[in-house]
Amino acid sequence: MKKTILVFTVAAVILFQSIAYAGNEPRISFMPVPSHVEYTSGNFRLDESFAVELIGNANVRLFPALTRILHRLVGRTGIFLTNDFITHNPKPENATMTISVARAGLLSVNEDESYSLTVTSQRITLTAETDLGAMHGLETFLQLLDNDSNGYFFQGCFIRDVPRFPWRGLLIDVCRHFMPMEVLKRNIDGMAAVKLNVLHLHLSEDQGFRVECKTFPKLHELGSDGMYYTHEQIRELLAYANARGIRVIPEFDVPSHSTSWFVGYPELASKPGPYAIERHWGVYNPTIDPTKEKTYKFLDAFFKEMSGLFNDEYFHIGGDENTGRHWDENPDIKTFMKKNNIPNNHALQDYFLGRVSKIFQKYHKKIVGWEEVMRQSSSTGTIIQTWREDKVLEEAVRKGYHVIVSRGYYIDLMYSAENHYENDVIPKNLQLSEKETKQILGAEATMWTEFVTPENIDSRIWPRTAAIAERFWSNDNVNDVRDMYRRLDVMSFRLEELGLTHQKNGEMMLRRLTNNADVAALKTFIDVVEPLKEYQRFDKGKDFASYSSYGRVMDAATADARSARVFSWLVNDYLADTTKKLLLDTVASYLKIWKQNHAELIKTIRMSPMLQEIESLSKDLASVAAIGSEAVEMIRSNKRADAHWVKNSLATLQKAKEQRGQCELMVLVPIEKLVTLTQIQ
Ligand code: ACM
Repeated sequence: MKKTILVFTVAAVILFQSIAYAGNEPRISFMPVPSHVEYTSGNFRLDESFAVELIGNANVRLFPALTRILHRLVGRTGIFLTNDFITHNPKPENATMTISVARAGLLSVNEDESYSLTVTSQRITLTAETDLGAMHGLETFLQLLDNDSNGYFFQGCFIRDVPRFPWRGLLIDVCRHFMPMEVLKRNIDGMAAVKLNVLHLHLSEDQGFRVECKTFPKLHELGSDGMYYTHEQIRELLAYANARGIRVIPEFDVPSHSTSWFVGYPELASKPGPYAIERHWGVYNPTIDPTKEKTYKFLDAFFKEMSGLFNDEYFHIGGDENTGRHWDENPDIKTFMKKNNIPNNHALQDYFLGRVSKIFQKYHKKIVGWEEVMRQSSSTGTIIQTWREDKVLEEAVRKGYHVIVSRGYYIDLMYSAENHYENDVIPKNLQLSEKETKQILGAEATMWTEFVTPENIDSRIWPRTAAIAERFWSNDNVNDVRDMYRRLDVMSFRLEELGLTHQKNGEMMLRRLTNNADVAALKTFIDVVEPLKEYQRFDKGKDFASYSSYGRVMDAATADARSARVFSWLVNDYLADTTKKLLLDTVASYLKIWKQNHAELIKTIRMSPMLQEIESLSKDLASVAAIGSEAVEMIRSNKRADAHWVKNSLATLQKAKEQRGQCELMVLVPIEKLVTLTQIQ
């Protein structure tokens, strides 16, 4: 077993090196790629005398940010700086890096986030209008760090960088599964590292109400199972995010997705209570009653409190997925609609949102809502967040709305980084005027947490969201998928350095699944499977709920099965040029490992009840790898396969497509291609 693992590792290294060092470009791994980079000769060598000088009057954020950067720098290089960090600013003549900033940035849309970074053999210079730009520049500076046999150095270069979109966000749903403060903080650190600047917190849902409310305390007392953030914690979080240049947008979803509100305040609902916190996943009917004046009195006091607590000028009010059923079933609501000439539920929701908008005008907030809030009569002052329909983006900008795009960035659906990366914020076929283009403020990746816990949330967000962050920051012509994956590998371990747990928790979960037995065979297996995509887990699984286990194989598997991806590239490259026999050798070495893996893994499966659901999938991996090996042998010896073998092999491959343990094998398509090739020898 050990020997085959060695073969695998060597094969992977050969492949990755050939991708990484294909050209003469420096081996820098920016993510996101800056808008303008020129490489120059003359590297800046890092040594103990490295000293940074801060110039300007914007050091409240920048001083601690620089300190954090220097900690990361010495952590990576082992260098003992003699300048005592920056507690005592070095004399200008001693400084080897200068950071000049004109002013402190405002955390608001369209603030200047640009920076310039110049590296020569003598000096590093970072210049920015705002400290926000300078902090982005410091992340780029760290990404420039490289090493050779002589030590650590920064590649000589000139960089000028500016984001493509001003709103670059990540939504975290803290309702389906509550996320403790440290989860949010480490994800804020990850966001800052990839130049995201908006954390959208989804704070109320059928399954939980997650913020202390002083005006109506039964909201958090009865709606949260005791899992909520106090005002003090929210303020701490806002300060933490602010220090890293990140805005926090609160979302309290109304009028639907609101069961948890009604546990303490059933009088707000369209149907009589009592209500209990929803424990299952789905779209539910409980909805706020929009016809009662006391609803608006309540919402006014509630939003007043929350508008004071959350300091951003934007406030998200949800507005999605109102089934309208509880409105239909309430005769008083029907009477109200008739009396007020409200023809249907869409118009009633519009009426409700109009009233809510007026409340927010009083508290000087701009409101954001999911695409359902876009109605004929709604004010175009509301920002529309797209999530479902292709046509909404175009419709919204044509009508004059500002838009945030989340369609295509639903990371809970477990699509690969490639899938999201190839989805541009502005679809290529959409012809927009300059004004309309400017109405697209940016985009957000959305981490809904039905199947996500504090333990595996990082592996659902990272490293994929680094690729998405590049889509939001970099020019749309930065779109080489393989290069993205090369850089994502580097970014991934850099994110772990910041405290994110996407890889280390995955490994812990494997150890737990095997009860601390050898995980090598399970790891080989998990590197070729992915969890079911889209909403198949809802459709094909048990009735998952708040208290279900989310520590199974499917929860440790990721959306980017690495070995399967590399294998697929190898097969595609060989098919593109069949003179490259070395590629076929590497293909064969992967197949050999997979063919033998089940014999090892079955020993662990026998002793691990939680692994039994993947037994037949593991067996199928061995069968399809055997087919692939036979195909490779025929291709190598120019032998044409007989029709019977091809038919049986394709049938076996077809059967292996069935999900088991809510996972699917990701190597079937490339093996099918090898089988097909045996027919055209
Ligand atoms: C949503 O995913 N219901 C906005």
